[in-house]
Amino acid sequence: EWTMENLVELEVEKIREQVGDQKVLCALSGGVDSSVVAALIHKAIGDQLTCIFVDHGLLRKNEADSVMETFGGDFNMNVIKVDAQERFMSKLHGVSDPEEKRKIIGNEFIYVFDDEADKLKDIDFLAQGTLYTDIIESGTETAQTIKSHHNVGGLPENMQFKLIEPLNTLFKDEVRALGTELGVPDEIVWRQPFPGPGLAIRVLGEITEEKLEIVRESDAVLRDEIKKAGLDRDVWQYFTVLPDFRSVGVMGDARTYDYTVGIRAVTSVDGMTSDWARIPFDILEKISNRIVNEVQHVNRIVYDVTSKPPSTIEWE
Ligand code: XMP
Repeated sequence: EWTMENLVELEVEKIREQVGDQKVLCALSGGVDSSVVAALIHKAIGDQLTCIFVDHGLLRKNEADSVMETFGGDFNMNVIKVDAQERFMSKLHGVSDPEEKRKIIGNEFIYVFDDEADKLKDIDFLAQGTLYTDIIESGTETAQTIKSHHNVGGLPENMQFKLIEPLNTLFKDEVRALGTELGVPDEIVWRQPFPGPGLAIRVLGEITEEKLEIVRESDAVLRDEIKKAGLDRDVWQYFTVLPDFRSVGVMGDARTYDYTVGIRAVTSVDGMTSDWARIPFDILEKISNRIVNEVQHVNRIVYDVTSKPPSTIEWE
């Protein structure tokens, strides 16, 4: 009889056979795939696994802490957290072009990861959260080709590691079920897609600490209210964006000249096309009021009512 328990046992056995007493390195991002890979390999070989978690400072509110608590704490894995916020911020200084931001972040991620990996001794394997669909999508590429894509998971091509990709026969829903079986919390297993460049592409144009803070805080309010409304599994992706302009408002009897926050919430099957989510007006009202009241320098909220195409899900 086929069960998730059996699948875990089978996978664990395969990993033990492949790895023996050698060591494995994993880039943990806090996303579904890398989290499930880490949990699975950890179950198989325990301390022979080391994870590197790069905090580029572009994550959502509390995300870095919760990744560390879950994997370093609850799972008791070897997780090296790299605080690279300043490194990324200084590289992004003065950059406003979306593709340039992506390139900088992707490259910097590799440099940071490389620097940390260099410090570790005797690593033989690099674990990748490649799914079956990733292999199909990359067409002529083989599973051995590290998918650089536009993900922060893209790793250096010249690394002298053997690859281990225990999820490469699975679909996303199977990976989620596997994660749950392994005790990965729902918050991660059911996490909405989050782009590798993170909040950097949700602050439109040039990034500053103040703007990042506005996006991070407003996003936290939005997520909180979507969750309270029980919509978090119906809406494919929901987040806030900060356009690069200010407008006039009034607070008490004073005129304000502050930022507008955009709310983006979409339904989708695969991210290739999407429709804007019909979030009830009273929930939007709550979100709007809370953001304006709780987040400094915001005096206007707009809701994005365009589908993809012609829009994209992200604003950059
Ligand atoms: P768009 O904005 O192109 O997004 O409609 C489609 C899906 O892809 C995600 N996305 C990215 N993911 N790195 C990523 O890892 C990126 O640079 C990137 N850009 C967009 C987006 O969040 C959505 O799920």
